[in-house]
Amino acid sequence: MSSTIETVFSARRSVRRFADRPVERATLEQLMQLATTAPSASNKQPWRFVIVRDRAVIRAMAEAVRGEVAAVLAHMDESGREAFRAYGEYFTRFEAAPCVIAPTCRPTPILSQLVSATIDPALRERVIAMERTSATVSTALAMENLLLAAPQLGLGASALTGPLLAAHALRELLRVPGSWELLALIAVGYPDEEPRKTERKPVDAVLRWIDGDDAND
Ligand SMILES: Cc1cc2nc3c(=O)[nH]c(=O)nc-3n(C[C@H](O)[C@H](O)[C@H](O)COP(=O)(O)O)c2cc1C
Repeated sequence: MSSTIETVFSARRSVRRFADRPVERATLEQLMQLATTAPSASNKQPWRFVIVRDRAVIRAMAEAVRGEVAAVLAHMDESGREAFRAYGEYFTRFEAAPCVIAPTCRPTPILSQLVSATIDPALRERVIAMERTSATVSTALAMENLLLAAPQLGLGASALTGPLLAAHALRELLRVPGSWELLALIAVGYPDEEPRKTERKPVDAVLRWIDGDDAND
């Protein structure tokens, strides 16, 4: 295997501390150029990215998330609260970033528009679910491209879905149209930390093989 790909993969870490330095628009354009080379179902590129560099908006987003974390905490007993308090702080770890990118996606109704009303409703549901998942997976691939490209441009980044607790408020702040789904936030900036490598499960523990007779190893 090419060592280049290992180098690129191992340079990616979730960076959550950032230098107090804005990220230039040209650098972000380059980052998004690389992100959007991702494959997508039927090459529909069902993604749009909201790029926020306004600190006041980022603060308001974090405030909205903190409010929802507090609302969740209010419905836990003391042991749950203890466990969630530290975890919940990770939901606002985009606040110190000079840039937050919000990936959004919208299913492309190809099949669902072609089938007639005679289709079994359960099959129609699966068609719609397939289209929704196709948009989500395509956009997640662009997100991974972004995360891998960031360190190559001198940037640090981390994906966050915890903030989706406040999805309704974030959608409003980011002016995400109703038909678009907000998938995550990605904090981006020049890194002010070198995060340690995180552990992975042994690969054998996450595989299940279904081999045919011709598998001869
Ligand atoms: C879908 C997804 C959601 C995540 N959500 C959060 C989050 O809300 N807050 C956070 O601080 N990190 C979040 N992370 C970062 C993970 O904690 C991190 O990827 C994991 O601990 C492995 O560390 P590494 O990225 O440095 O390899 C998220 C990562 C992914 C892929």
